[in-house]
Amino acid sequence: MYKLEIKLILTVIIATMMSSCETKDSKILSDKTNSIYSEKVDSIISLMTLDEKIGQLNLPATGPITTGSSKSTDVVEKIKEGKIGVLFNLKDPKNIYEVQKIAVEKSRLGIPLIFGMDVIHGFKTTFPIPLGLSCSWDLEMIEKTAKIARSEASANGINWTFSPMVDISRDPRWGRVSEGNGEDPYLGSEIARAMVRGYQQNDLSANNTLMACVKHFALYGAVEAGRDYNTVDMSRIRMYNEYLPPYKVAIEEGVGSVMVAFNEIDGVPATGNKWLLTDLLRDDWGFDGFVVSDYTGIYEMMEHGMGDEYMVTSLALKAGLDMDMAGDSPHIDVAYIKQLKGALDQGKISMEHIDRAVGRVLKAKFQLGLFDDPYKYCSLERAKQETYTQKNRDYARLVGAESMVLLKNKNQLSPLKKSGTISVIGPLAKASNNMPGTWSVSTDHEKAISVWDGLKESVGDQVNLLYAKGSNITKDLDLEKRVTMFGKDIPRDGRTDQQLLNEAIAVANKSDVIIATIGESSEFSGESSSRTNLKIPDVQKDLLNALLKTGKPVVLVLFTGRPLNIVEENKKVPAILNAWFPGSEAGLSISDVLFGDVNPSGKLTMTFPRNVGQLPLFYNHKNTGRPLGNSEGKFEKFKSNYLDVRNEPLYPFGYGLSYTTFKYGDLTLDKTSITKNDELKVSVDITNTGDYDGKEIAQLYIRDVVGTVTRPVRELKGFQKIFIKKGETVTVTFNISVEDLKFYNSNLDFVAEPGVFQVAIAPSSDFEFKKSFELID
Ligand code: BGC
Repeated sequence: MYKLEIKLILTVIIATMMSSCETKDSKILSDKTNSIYSEKVDSIISLMTLDEKIGQLNLPATGPITTGSSKSTDVVEKIKEGKIGVLFNLKDPKNIYEVQKIAVEKSRLGIPLIFGMDVIHGFKTTFPIPLGLSCSWDLEMIEKTAKIARSEASANGINWTFSPMVDISRDPRWGRVSEGNGEDPYLGSEIARAMVRGYQQNDLSANNTLMACVKHFALYGAVEAGRDYNTVDMSRIRMYNEYLPPYKVAIEEGVGSVMVAFNEIDGVPATGNKWLLTDLLRDDWGFDGFVVSDYTGIYEMMEHGMGDEYMVTSLALKAGLDMDMAGDSPHIDVAYIKQLKGALDQGKISMEHIDRAVGRVLKAKFQLGLFDDPYKYCSLERAKQETYTQKNRDYARLVGAESMVLLKNKNQLSPLKKSGTISVIGPLAKASNNMPGTWSVSTDHEKAISVWDGLKESVGDQVNLLYAKGSNITKDLDLEKRVTMFGKDIPRDGRTDQQLLNEAIAVANKSDVIIATIGESSEFSGESSSRTNLKIPDVQKDLLNALLKTGKPVVLVLFTGRPLNIVEENKKVPAILNAWFPGSEAGLSISDVLFGDVNPSGKLTMTFPRNVGQLPLFYNHKNTGRPLGNSEGKFEKFKSNYLDVRNEPLYPFGYGLSYTTFKYGDLTLDKTSITKNDELKVSVDITNTGDYDGKEIAQLYIRDVVGTVTRPVRELKGFQKIFIKKGETVTVTFNISVEDLKFYNSNLDFVAEPGVFQVAIAPSSDFEFKKSFELID
């Protein structure tokens, strides 16, 4: 291991205090450990100049720094002057080691740096995009993906990840739905918990864990019209019941840091919102980690209309925002590093405000064990042994397959036979660099396995595989540029659309089955990638129609970072497998599902609409005073519906097919009423009635029929993913307690109100309640 090198002054302070330091078995942020850190932190703060203090709050936008160039950039000068506390998106442990060495050896106090990164769904080994991953509904698996990510990232010098993103999202026009876990607060909360656990493992000081950063606090998923960075305006009651739960759970799980959202809340940008960052987050929820802005978020408060550079920096600091991300960048003149000193002189902030923020950042450095050994995360040996290993890749292959959702499978077209001739057609068939999906900054995109390569490897010796590109991603050259950036180029084919089609049709005609690899390229979703048209892009639609016209059976392997409007495809295409962006081993994962080596079991965590005009569309909506009821799709005047499209989605939340079929028996309840101290058992027999062993995700829903405030028509309250052999029956049981019946009322008290509750265990959110019970006082 590397030699511990810390300035003498710190060594003395730490040595006297280390004896009482205990972090291992307790919750990371318990009061006990806090008070121990407080003493150490205060001692360091007492030695710091004002510049050094403000430096700790500075997370600059540096761009890539390499060992060679780092010595000459002004970033290095700033590190030496103690004007940088944290860096992000630096790659290569050797490089990070060098930069850390500068901080430790060349700055006056030798305070080590934190190294952050967007390790969102894997590091080098990439798992499906988070929305895809959530469709596995497999919490253990999700936690394990975070564990693999943290072990790879931490070996490569990273100790802080900007994940999990837990923004509830109900509007697929917003490109960032791809980064979250869909529309449901219960499932979203469970996933938030699993991710934080996976990263932090309850021991931040270990050299193979990462500090997590829950984001984007808060409500970012509710941007108006699905346009990124747009305004959010929401009632408190909706916030508390529907949007805040996943962040709160992450805090309860001990997440070390919180990233603030770009949007406003109650008319005040989250970045400077004291109610959000202090009253709610710290006073109500007890969070005691540090809070970081999102990229240039402080500067953006000027654009929001919150005042000049001194006003916005003071507003942020006083609200409880500790660290400034990317304010210190060449094109921005508003940053803690630039204005806090002046704001202090002007009396807009006090030294206590600065010390409070500095203390939180230093505490994180203690928690990460950086004062103990600043180089502990830079292990070339570990990096070599633990990164992108065959074992990790095998796991990614499995996770990719478990996250896919079979949307349609007419006449059991899939699983395909491993024989005959199969044509693989579409612009995404060979696009390996697109397979990891959006927000995969640390992976080697070109190494990901394309559909073509995956099929070749797994069935190439049994199946005669043919290929044609068939079309470009879109006709629109400008759009094409925007959706193939960040190293995810899909080279444009110089042939005309018709030439490409002709070739595809000729190839298709030679095959027994067509696999159409079609949909969004990966940068169609993610940040700043909102869409108003959620259809499959123009030329690809033409291609699909031409392939269908050949009369050959078509399996559509759909790539997408969001629910799409595929009403037409649902009518015409016999089999549709939603692959999302499956990660490093995409082609193998897809092959496993298409040929039945893995029986698909994923279920949607976001509703697929029929029409953009329905958005936002989600299963746990309110009833309204004029509900349409079961009109079987027919319009009814003066009811809550549309003239031109039915209310129901194309595919509801919780929906997904298997190669086998499951039959649900009648629901049984062990009693018809419970008190506040009781539990109710609800059970159902599920029989695998098909020809394959398979996994089913059984979902528990309730409806609170009468409330002091209106309640959703159904809410997910539990789920179990169970394996059932063909022909077998398994009894699935859930316990319901009063905790499951609670919600925030109009006083924002978390209560369960006595009365009737409907209950069901169902294969998706599309069902009718048949049973109920009563909660009695
Ligand atoms: C995104 C964050 C991300 C940050 C750092 C921002 O633009 O909104 O999600 O973590 O950049 O890359």
